[in-house]
Amino acid sequence: MRHRWLFLGACGWVLLILGFVTKIISHRAVDEYDGRHGGQSSTVPGRTARKFPLPTAEKTVSLQPDQSSAAPTMDEWDSVVERRLQLLSTVCKNSTLRNLTHIPISKFVLDRIFVCDKHNILFCQTPKVGNTQWKKVLITLNGAFSGVEEIPENLVHDHEKNGLPRLSSLTPQEITHRLRSYFKFFIVRDPFERLISAFSDKFVKNPRFEPWYRHDIAPAIIRKYRRRQRDGERAASGLHFEDFVRYLGDVEGRRRLDRQFGGHIIHWMTYAELCAPCDIPYDVIGHHETLEQDAGYILKRAGIEHLVSYPDIPPGITCYNKSKIEHYFSGMSKRDIRRLYARFQGDFDLFGYQKPYFLLN
Ligand SMILES: *[C@@H]1O[C@H](CO)[C@@H](O)[C@H](O)[C@H]1NC(C)=O
Ligand SMILES: *[C@@H]1O[C@H](CO)[C@@H](O)[C@H](O)[C@H]1NC(C)=O
Ligand SMILES: *[C@@H]1O[C@H](CO)[C@@H](O)[C@H](O)[C@H]1NC(C)=O
Repeated sequence: MRHRWLFLGACGWVLLILGFVTKIISHRAVDEYDGRHGGQSSTVPGRTARKFPLPTAEKTVSLQPDQSSAAPTMDEWDSVVERRLQLLSTVCKNSTLRNLTHIPISKFVLDRIFVCDKHNILFCQTPKVGNTQWKKVLITLNGAFSGVEEIPENLVHDHEKNGLPRLSSLTPQEITHRLRSYFKFFIVRDPFERLISAFSDKFVKNPRFEPWYRHDIAPAIIRKYRRRQRDGERAASGLHFEDFVRYLGDVEGRRRLDRQFGGHIIHWMTYAELCAPCDIPYDVIGHHETLEQDAGYILKRAGIEHLVSYPDIPPGITCYNKSKIEHYFSGMSKRDIRRLYARFQGDFDLFGYQKPYFLLN
């Protein structure tokens, strides 16, 4: 409960600040964020992170009262991050959840982690949580491009050419050294919101033109999981969120399908499976719901805030939206939702997201 209110409160402040900022900066369509047009971000090397953090002393003399009262200090955010790590450590020790939380540091996990050797940073990619933007920040820092806006959109995800190596490409000694000594972080958001975002991005909008989601993966899921299948309906209506939920909740039954889907399933695997947070000692786990504060904090902790800033965050995009979740799950069987929750409970508990009672009871 407390965490949810913290997020809502923080989101409120972010909205207030952004409302002010957007009066100055031109408005940007929400859908373009983290999509293929996300490249119009305005990161300028040499500029410090915007609005965060304001040292306490500056608060009283700030000329922008809206912002000064909203921005937490580095110390305040330190304690937020510390509380998150304590919770993580407690949940990692809980043996009931062991299967959902402890993941071996396999090649699959090392494939998810990107390396910035120039500044001793490791970043674990959690799709649908603003990762494109972080990759651009790191590509810029690695030196292949002079600024975030210079990076061609199609290169961000081309790991042969973008100068952002995966941890898996290094030798075991090099990997161990980096896991021990580098600054390590990743970002999470409410697990169900992330699934809705993955569903919408891959099966409804598909802005990156990846036809295999609709042409191969969707029909396979529909064939196995759609209820009340009528003749001709399959081709016409596409994947429903309900089909997707039933597939995700079927831990045993979906194994064969997942092997067939290959690497594409990273968009709906759990954070624990992607980043092994109980087995790799991350320094910061940022939350999408408080991205404005977390982005500034991460840049400072990594010692790169004078080199690069996180691209502008469109207003309202990071806030937890309960009515959206209710909308997507409406009319769905409680049994299916409970099975989905059982699959993602590790992520809810590890990162302090409240159990969605309004869907389960
Ligand atoms: C472990 O997790 C389960 C499931 O969330 C919870 O019911 C239980 O209280 C936890 N145990 C401890 C010791 O925190
Ligand atoms: C954890 O996984 C093991 C092996 O897959 C299984 O035997 C065991 O029942 C699982 N435990 C829980 C609590 O799900
Ligand atoms: C929440 O989601 C609903 C439905 O998708 C949308 O109409 C509404 O504008 C969203 N609210 C916010 C604050 O973004």
